[in-house]
Amino acid sequence: MQSLDEWDDFVASRYRAGKTEEEFRNYSSEANPGVAEFYRQNHALQTVDFVRAKRAEYLALKRGKKSIWEAAEYLNTLVDDSDPDTDLSQIEHLLQTSEAIRRDGHPRWFVMAGFVHDLGKVLCLYGEPQWGGVGGTFPVGCAYSDQVVFPEYFAANPDAKVPEYRTELGIYGFRCGLDKVQLSWGHDEYIYHVTRNYLPEPAQYMLRYHSFYAAHKHGAYRRLMNEHDERMFEWVRKFNPYDLYSKGGERPKLDELRPYYEDLVAEFFPAQIDW
Ligand SMILES: [Fe+2]
Repeated sequence: MQSLDEWDDFVASRYRAGKTEEEFRNYSSEANPGVAEFYRQNHALQTVDFVRAKRAEYLALKRGKKSIWEAAEYLNTLVDDSDPDTDLSQIEHLLQTSEAIRRDGHPRWFVMAGFVHDLGKVLCLYGEPQWGGVGGTFPVGCAYSDQVVFPEYFAANPDAKVPEYRTELGIYGFRCGLDKVQLSWGHDEYIYHVTRNYLPEPAQYMLRYHSFYAAHKHGAYRRLMNEHDERMFEWVRKFNPYDLYSKGGERPKLDELRPYYEDLVAEFFPAQIDW
């Protein structure tokens, strides 16, 4: 299997510090054929009907009970075979994120959010295609923003021909609030639903919108956000650098960190939760 993180990393890499304007813009399909193909499929196939179907399939959380640890270990079976010596496992990426948050002295719920933020990628182990699990997210059912990567690929989406979905607001009301908005289906929305009863609201926003770059990085889709969303997005933006910049560097030592995380997980979550 190809690197699951590649698509997210690609979007994320656009924002790394120290990039020249030219590098920042260098996300053409010629320069990144694999990524372009991923987004070609993602933008063509994430329709209103697809998102509705996946929400109905997964958000009732009927795939059984698992502890956070069981989910993390299950996710870890997603092996990136492109470079086993330097690439981090899924758990190691989660720990790098959460450890960077912890080092900066943030509250325990924030560290907890870092540790679970990508656990929704188990969708890809349930058999979902990568275009239906990872990558930057965007609202379906309204006009697409040019701030989404590869916006030209939206032309192939059947929704682009539905008049009702083509207006700025589409099926939504002005400043209706993001809770009423259906984003393209992926691991963010899934992990938000799995963990929402156990984490404080800023953490819920971090999990639910961490891949919604068009909004939290570019300020797009504000017409769908209410004042509460605007306030909560401060937290999403606070979380984002830990997801982006924590990769690389030292490999976290799970055996040493485990006691801290055992306590942390037990503080927020019951032994098992619904997935
Ligand atoms: Fe993610």
